[in-house]
Amino acid sequence: MSDRRPIVAGNWKLHLDHVEAVHHVTELGMRLRGMDVGAVDVVVVPPFTDLRSVSSVIEAEKLELGLGAQHVSEFEQGAYTGEVSAPMLARLGVTIVLVGHSERRAFFHMDDDTVARTAAAALRGGLIPMLCVGESEAERADGATDEVLARQLSTVLAALDGVDAERLCVAYEPLWAIGTGTPATPEDAGSACAHLRKLAEQQLGEGAARLRVLYGGSVSAESAGGLVAPPDVDGLLVGGASLTPSEFAGVVGAAADCYRSSRRSDRR
Ligand code: PGA
Repeated sequence: MSDRRPIVAGNWKLHLDHVEAVHHVTELGMRLRGMDVGAVDVVVVPPFTDLRSVSSVIEAEKLELGLGAQHVSEFEQGAYTGEVSAPMLARLGVTIVLVGHSERRAFFHMDDDTVARTAAAALRGGLIPMLCVGESEAERADGATDEVLARQLSTVLAALDGVDAERLCVAYEPLWAIGTGTPATPEDAGSACAHLRKLAEQQLGEGAARLRVLYGGSVSAESAGGLVAPPDVDGLLVGGASLTPSEFAGVVGAAADCYRSSRRSDRR
């Protein structure tokens, strides 16, 4: 029976300033409080400037919410203007950080080696890296999905030699699903997550059974329950649908219902 604890994370991207964030997270916390969502860990991933305010609300209201960041520097300190380090984030109560999101890869030129160094820096600083991987539409059409996922994952695992699989998460986020309004089918999401776990076995051995592999890309309250049903999907990384507390609470609720009712023994 798997003891992987599912995560539902809301990536706000470049939305909601710190004043809006306080209202948002207060409402989200209130909504979740009235629901049975103990089967999942819920994480909000706001912009850097919101982190302090959001963490204060979580603490003051005793909300069952984890705090994530969208990016972290590969450097710990020094002359790196504009960067934010893992220890700085950890000090603010951040526990998890997205690494190598496709938007960072595309717009800010993160290659696989930079992603790997960033994941290593996150771990050293006490954060859980959530490594984002996924193929483009063209790569998918070329039948290159497995190869792309293998390259993206193995570069990072090689740099994190000996990592405890519980200190790392992977999010399968196909580029053709992100922000399009059309998520992958549960079958596609399930088979890609299973494939990633198989790939991880080559470097993590039996530890791969403890690695959390999430799906992300146009998740909504409507699609969430189906997307978490396959046994290798350990949660969701949610973008657009995390910007409205009621919609995000709906995603969390649907995922929690599925994990609660599914026989965890079915999960590998
Ligand atoms: P989306 O974004 O849910 O808006 O498609 C997901 C992501 O990029 O993490």
